[in-house]
Amino acid sequence: MALTGLVLAGFVLGHMSGNLLMFKGPAAINEYAKWLHDHAGLLWAARLTLILSVVAHIWVGIQLTLENRAARAGGPADEATRRASIASRSMPYSGVVILGFIVFHLLHFTFRTIALGGVAHGDDVHAMVVAGFNSKPVAVFYIVSMLLLCLHLSHGVSSVFQTLGLRNERWRGRLDGLALAYAWIIAFGFSSIPLAVLTGCLK
Ligand code: HEM
Repeated sequence: MALTGLVLAGFVLGHMSGNLLMFKGPAAINEYAKWLHDHAGLLWAARLTLILSVVAHIWVGIQLTLENRAARAGGPADEATRRASIASRSMPYSGVVILGFIVFHLLHFTFRTIALGGVAHGDDVHAMVVAGFNSKPVAVFYIVSMLLLCLHLSHGVSSVFQTLGLRNERWRGRLDGLALAYAWIIAFGFSSIPLAVLTGCLK
């Protein structure tokens, strides 16, 4: 869970940083997208790593959820969840919504089969993203999904510290703060684009 989670948490940081080129103008983001597509070997290696990580992450996540439920069955429910945060208890649910978001997102911007108003944007990624978020429900759906990604990441990253054995009583507070900060940076970075289109700052 920790290893695949680290790959996915690293991917969102890279993807979010690349997306911020939207604010530098059409040339910057379009050149970046072209560079990625021109390096097919690199792109497919990244895609393959991502697909394997997502599948393994979901598979182990399901096992873990079932094991937790079985361990808790019949026990004192209050005590079992005494230290568990909302983020921790909602991991399976936030995970399912994020999976739904990813499916929508791939149909939206990678396969370009939905929610672009039937307009083909060719290689103009900047125009495609602006067109995508000109639809208010779509922009709001992205922002809400990013808030759930924030919840999922805040617990996920602190769990990585736990797995590495770093999250002892002394470091727990600081590491949880670091995980929360990371989650907010990712969520805010991604959300800034639909927010900027919604408010007319990005055209
Ligand atoms: C506001 C938020 C986001 C924006 C504006 C955005 C934008 C984009 C765009 C434009 C593409 C297509 C790039 C191209 O074909 O040249 C893309 C692909 C992709 N995005 Fe996002 N993205 C966002 C959030 C996310 C999040 C949160 C995730 C994962 C949790 C994600 C995962 C992916 C994946 C897996 C691809 C496919 C990459 C590929 O194999 O071609 N995106 N995104």
